[in-house]
Amino acid sequence: QLADVGVTGLAVMGLNLARNLARHGHKVAVHNRTYTRTEKFLADHGEEGTFVASESLEDFVASLERPRVAIVMVKAGMGTDAVIDALAELMEPGDIIVDTGNAHFPDTIRREHALRERGIHFVGCGVSGGEEGALNGPSIMPGGTVESYERLGPMLESISAHVDGVPCCTHVGPDGAGHFVKMVHNGIEYADMQLIAEAYDLLRKGLGATPAEIGEIFAEWNTGDLESYLIEITADVLAHTDPETGQAFVDIVQDQAEQKGTGRWTVQNGLDLGVPITGIAEATFARSLSGSLPQREAGRRALPAKTAAWEVTDREGFIDDVRRALYASKVVAYSQGFDQIAAASVEYDWNIDRGAMARIWRGGCIIRARFLDRITEAYEREPDLALLLADPYFTDAVSDGLEAWRRVVAGAAQNGVPTPAFSSSLAYYDGVRSERLPAALIQAQRDFFGAHTYRRTDREGSFHTLWSGDRSEIAG
Ligand code: 6PG
Repeated sequence: QLADVGVTGLAVMGLNLARNLARHGHKVAVHNRTYTRTEKFLADHGEEGTFVASESLEDFVASLERPRVAIVMVKAGMGTDAVIDALAELMEPGDIIVDTGNAHFPDTIRREHALRERGIHFVGCGVSGGEEGALNGPSIMPGGTVESYERLGPMLESISAHVDGVPCCTHVGPDGAGHFVKMVHNGIEYADMQLIAEAYDLLRKGLGATPAEIGEIFAEWNTGDLESYLIEITADVLAHTDPETGQAFVDIVQDQAEQKGTGRWTVQNGLDLGVPITGIAEATFARSLSGSLPQREAGRRALPAKTAAWEVTDREGFIDDVRRALYASKVVAYSQGFDQIAAASVEYDWNIDRGAMARIWRGGCIIRARFLDRITEAYEREPDLALLLADPYFTDAVSDGLEAWRRVVAGAAQNGVPTPAFSSSLAYYDGVRSERLPAALIQAQRDFFGAHTYRRTDREGSFHTLWSGDRSEIAG
């Protein structure tokens, strides 16, 4: 009895994906580098479906129905190339290798091209939703060829999350497109988490509220426009008390946020493509700042705040302001992330449908949120929308909260509360809506010291002023 699909790498993500596949009626071949883990898997979950276990990679591949589908679920970077190479050696033209780790998309492009020459489909596939999602329905972002999706699509769609009966899985685009979109998903995840953290900090410092009280505010927010998985778990975390000390759990956790790389890659790519993803960048740098211990120690000792304690008088008004500022900043972060997808789609020739990306993020993934429906609708109205913020729904949503947003950012600055993501999102908003930017002055400076030339507002061409001569203008 040959298996429909195989999973190699039975750490928790791979194991849950294999169980999810089996629960949906697929016959699943399983393999792990050390066989004891496979044996344990069978002992724990063998009854949940039909599994075909193999001790060697050769037997694993031999146990697969043609064209073979082998899902590789090893931690990104940890010998991924070695596993893929070993599998490819055993496979035949037409077979499919699916990498579901958080691989960096240039690696995926490289692997796809190398295997394509041998007739093997390599599918870099983003999977979001953590351990629970892998088991009960993740959001799935497969790249690779259209042919590979014909074989994979029905299977992946069956195990993905569903919202209103629609699967949270679609073919994203060729080669590295799937892993790219997963990377941007994680970048947005960083921005969203940072914004939520800033909102929490503002409520704590502005109102002197306890974590539990703030948890209640988040729970309330989760019933409106902000409804999302991250807001929901924030309410949960803030309500949690450390059983050992009886303190608020958030107060016993060290304040240094770690990162595994996807946020950094997103920012690096934003710089490469020249897309201002300032929310994601600030969020990533905020994590870096939190971990910069010598600098923080020196700063704590030397730098005064020169502010008195923040005294907010209108409690309800302030809570509402922070909510509106959070929503507006969040819209900016998503808008920037979707701009990045659009730019990459052109740069790498991927033809990514942004509305479809918002649709498959509505369920299963970490950034799942009610307002993703609004994003899909915006791209349905105008598939080539240059700026998500300029879609009428978002323009209204953000301008409704604009005064609140300004009050919050101004209040934070005046009272010495760092809000890098709130502030930079507002700066982006004001920048992108500006009639004229001071970039003109920068161009003039560049021309002054480096003869880098400038273009004029009143006629075509590029020009240079003879700054150290008679200041006449020549063609550049
Ligand atoms: C997901 C998550 C997942 C993982 C992140 C965490 O979509 O399921 O994004 O991929 O939790 O990699 O990233 P950091 O460790 O960098 O915060």
